[in-house]
Amino acid sequence: MNTLADIHYFPRGDLVHTVHQALGSGLTHAITMFAARRMGKTLFVRNDLVPAAEAWGWRACYIDLWVRRDHPEVALVEELEAAARPKGLLSKAIKPDKVTAKTAYAGSGVHAEWTKTGAQADLQGRLRTAMQNLAQASNKPVLLILDEFQTLAAGMHEDFVACFRASMLELQPKLKLFFTGSSRDALNEMFRKRRAPLFDAALSLPLPQLGNDFVANRAHIFAQMTGRKVDQVELASVFERIARVPLYLNQIILHMVVGITSDPWDGLRRWQHEIGETGLREQWLRLKPIDRIILQHLATHQPESLFSTDFSAMVTDRLEEKNACNPQRVQTAVNRLVKNLVLAPKGEKGEYEIEDRALATYLARGSIPAH
Ligand SMILES: Nc1ncnc2c1ncn2[C@@H]1O[C@H](COP(=O)(O)OP(=O)(O)OP(=O)(O)O)[C@@H](O)[C@H]1O
Ligand SMILES: [Mg+2]
Repeated sequence: MNTLADIHYFPRGDLVHTVHQALGSGLTHAITMFAARRMGKTLFVRNDLVPAAEAWGWRACYIDLWVRRDHPEVALVEELEAAARPKGLLSKAIKPDKVTAKTAYAGSGVHAEWTKTGAQADLQGRLRTAMQNLAQASNKPVLLILDEFQTLAAGMHEDFVACFRASMLELQPKLKLFFTGSSRDALNEMFRKRRAPLFDAALSLPLPQLGNDFVANRAHIFAQMTGRKVDQVELASVFERIARVPLYLNQIILHMVVGITSDPWDGLRRWQHEIGETGLREQWLRLKPIDRIILQHLATHQPESLFSTDFSAMVTDRLEEKNACNPQRVQTAVNRLVKNLVLAPKGEKGEYEIEDRALATYLARGSIPAH
């Protein structure tokens, strides 16, 4: 049920304006925007930023690294090459240092497996050339938008990122960069390992949470679709309850439409029922007992640290196992949960949050799926 936004995107004009001011004034040539999942990063760049950049007389190029996270480096090079190619030309220019080549992925050239020695160096050469070609294809400034950029942090080759950075610096101010992503952890890692002027100079912009104007707009759309009115104050409370995740409000509205109700709380119940019965319940069932205790602890905002002896004692109590739990075991479980994208570090040492806000709100209400 994701279709509401496709038809009714809520524009974020202020944010577009901020980006324009920052990049257009030369204050900075690179922006990073990291926000939790499902908060609207991708829609913002696709629906707002790309058309706006074109309206400013720039050329916009959007690349999503997540869809090809198995080979993010090759993906980045191929997408850049495709973007740099004059329109209408097919992918003849790509000649991988051939080991295996499959047919096109998402219409963007050749997929190559880089197993030969020297392939990395070639890939870096191609990266540099593609970036130069993209920047120099016309007189227009180029805005390169890289969605889920942290995917590259998982790549094996630090020198690839170093090469990317060097090319970016070389091509400024013609080439402007906009990075988005959701994994703070991977990004922190990248910043830490590759401390460099580019990242230092990048402006970090938060994605503002949507507020009452978004709620009013959704109420208006609901009225248009159904001819019925919805209480905006109640709808705003529901939005608050679901941690202001726009995706969930869209889904709730659709539940209200198909459930023939104008009561947002009824819509919330139906939505909770659906996600609880399907996604969340399955997710919950896959977790180990210690994981569940950690998640409940975080969802209900308990003050003790996960790594305190009190917390370990509580886990020992609840697990009823022979061996007592200790902070080290909690750390191992937390590391596994971070790796599986269930938890995300908050940036402060030892602080974590539940990545999926639907799960967090669900658990916060004490509705633990049956197991
Ligand atoms: N401005 C908006 N107007 C209407 N709906 C929105 C808006 N922003 C986000 N949404 C809703 O939230 C959903 C998720 O948005 P999007 O995919 O852009 O999030 P994201 O932050 O890129 O998530 P992820 O981290 O999973 O990639 C959309 O499918 C849409 O339903
Ligand atoms: Mg996204």
